[in-house]
Amino acid sequence: MAILKIARMGHPVLTRLADPVADPTAPEIRRLVADMAETMQDAQGIGLAAPQVHVPLRLFVWRGGAGNVIALINPEIGPVGDEVEEGWEGCLSIPGLRGPVPRAARIRFRGVDIEGRAMDGEAAGLPARVMQHEMDHLDGVLYPMRMTDLSRLGFTEELARAAAARAPAEGPPR
Ligand code: NI
Repeated sequence: MAILKIARMGHPVLTRLADPVADPTAPEIRRLVADMAETMQDAQGIGLAAPQVHVPLRLFVWRGGAGNVIALINPEIGPVGDEVEEGWEGCLSIPGLRGPVPRAARIRFRGVDIEGRAMDGEAAGLPARVMQHEMDHLDGVLYPMRMTDLSRLGFTEELARAAAARAPAEGPPR
């Protein structure tokens, strides 16, 4: 396994449409997923999409509730219902920044795993947000492009300082 270099905002790989994975069970895809998992853990991220490691393919990994890494290949995601929630997001390709992003509160997802088995299910809360964020990477979309008020985009440190000054009991935004 290897820790891969993460592309930062401005690199063209982050704004193109990624290609479908032809064979999800191919050894090179297994290796890529293992390397992405290691890269994500090393960078302390909760999700990572293949374009972020300069590979324009439709797959991403995220950290499940039990700390396990889940990979979804050729994913499809759609909202369930029309409830939208705002939540703070960051991105390993935009280090140091955070911003509030509206996302579908509940989603349905499907795709395949590295064994080629069909995966599908529903998600809400943080996993739903992470999957929507990672799915956007496959379509060349970065979270600031989803923000409705760019004046709230900021450096994590400054946002934490401002939040602490405003309401010491509340703590920093996540
Ligand atoms: Ni990201």
